[in-house]
Amino acid sequence: MRKNIVVANWKMNLVRSDALLLVHEVLSNKADNISVNVVFAPSYPYIYKVAKLCEINDNFSVSSQDCSSRKQGAHTGEVSAEMIASCGAEYVILGHSERRIKFNESNEQIKHKIDNALENNLKVIFCCGESLQQRDSELHFDWVEEQIKESIFHLSKDQVKCVTIAYEPIWAIGTGKTASAVQAQDMHHFIRNLFEKKYDNDVSDNLSILYGGSCNPNNASQLFSQKDIDGGLIGGASLHSDKFLAIINSF
Ligand code: 13P
Repeated sequence: MRKNIVVANWKMNLVRSDALLLVHEVLSNKADNISVNVVFAPSYPYIYKVAKLCEINDNFSVSSQDCSSRKQGAHTGEVSAEMIASCGAEYVILGHSERRIKFNESNEQIKHKIDNALENNLKVIFCCGESLQQRDSELHFDWVEEQIKESIFHLSKDQVKCVTIAYEPIWAIGTGKTASAVQAQDMHHFIRNLFEKKYDNDVSDNLSILYGGSCNPNNASQLFSQKDIDGGLIGGASLHSDKFLAIINSF
């Protein structure tokens, strides 16, 4: 059975005290009986502390928001997958559209990051998604297929079991404009089929595919009730414990 996962991608928000307070509020208010894995993705300086706080509940874990494509050495300012793993993170988010667009990350570079992450036993949350222009030109399926093929499909069956996909249409990120449940479901179904064709049923049935892009307490349950949507990658709404808890409780 694939996992339901809700990820809080805080991006470059929250000073340390606010971040730790938010984690505390979510941890102490989440009902224990809900079968959803909750992942906090803080900025690098808080990973260790947030991971420590999450140790009290098996359903909680930590992700970084990125990692270097290099392994180690003279790369001032870079943070390696090995360092992130040594601070207690379980996941790393890779290929987020903000990194692709603002930092010119290519599918090839993301592929190297994925390899580094997996070598260090980090699970990967791989982001993909199209621009509004691509959707309007009906190129969205081709684009997402290319992103996945070029960064993921070199992995073995065992490796790909450590990957979660996050479909985040760029036009829905931070815009308040959510993909409709039908648009999201269609893309998630398409992605699952790609994995079935490349690997097999076992891989595609167990692959968690998350939706991201203006997901909030009002639309989460409709999105999460779709057959191929297994949770969410949440930006803005994950910065408020009440909103984030409401999303977690939307399954
Ligand atoms: P918003 O939820 O703020 O639209 O951000 C989505 C996102 O980019 C999560 O990674």
